[in-house]
Amino acid sequence: MTLIDGKAVSQKVLTECAEKLTRLAAQGRKPGLAVVLVGEDPASRAYVGSKVKTCAELGMHSRKIELKAATTQHELLAVVEELNYDPDIHGILVQSPPPPHIDETAIVRAIDPRKDVDGFHPVNVAGLALEDGAAFVPCTPLGCQRLLLEYSIPTEGARVVIIGRSMIVGKPLALLLMAKGRGGNATVTVAHSRCRDLPGVCREADILIAAIGRPGFVTSDFVKEGAVVIDVGINRVDDASAKNGYRIVGDVNFEEVAPKCSAITPVPGGVGPMTIAMLISNTLKAERLIHG
Ligand code: GUN
Repeated sequence: MTLIDGKAVSQKVLTECAEKLTRLAAQGRKPGLAVVLVGEDPASRAYVGSKVKTCAELGMHSRKIELKAATTQHELLAVVEELNYDPDIHGILVQSPPPPHIDETAIVRAIDPRKDVDGFHPVNVAGLALEDGAAFVPCTPLGCQRLLLEYSIPTEGARVVIIGRSMIVGKPLALLLMAKGRGGNATVTVAHSRCRDLPGVCREADILIAAIGRPGFVTSDFVKEGAVVIDVGINRVDDASAKNGYRIVGDVNFEEVAPKCSAITPVPGGVGPMTIAMLISNTLKAERLIHG
């Protein structure tokens, strides 16, 4: 059984990005990322913190914009608009989920699609479906695909089952893995909470991807012997013995599932670190698309 090391692959991607940043700096070019956080959600705060920290470590320009939970839709739209016109900013990310009074769909649509490094804008969603290489693809799906590529896990002709149909992971990942070309050409099934005989459907998978946000949901009866399992889940569960009172677990019951797999991602240290690396990579792409 191969343990897929997302930390190591993310470091490789980030090293490539750092080299590109050095080359661009020599030409006077400085890609920049803006990360907007509305409210106090501790998990969102932690994610935004690591995104900005990674930028700093790579010497990439970034702006962290922290807004109070009571920020109005109008105020948030004004911030996005300002970033759309900021020539030092090439990528804009508004951390999801925002507080409930914010209309997230409207915020995503207000982001200039050329700066939409999350790939959530309808223009980029359509671009992915149309297999337009200039479209931005959401970072977590890109990270999953990159892990499969780095470990030479073939997707061509493979049966992939994705559990979860979110716009952040499940749907874009399905489009990515079924697209023509390297890292694609898979036969993809998107399963979800209403799926009949979910374990049976999952047992068909050569590559099983869990993206449902339910700790330990995928048990050994979901997994075919020799399958590859990618765990996208990042769930906080109470743990009195842990320093901060919680620990992070995936959507997969690792102890039970790992012995059946040919390869599996751990949580933490699997897909998680890849998401930030692909965000940085998307920001470099945004700068390239704007400046040529
Ligand atoms: N919340 C969880 N994942 C993501 C992501 O990839 N982008 C944004 N903006 N918010 C998230």
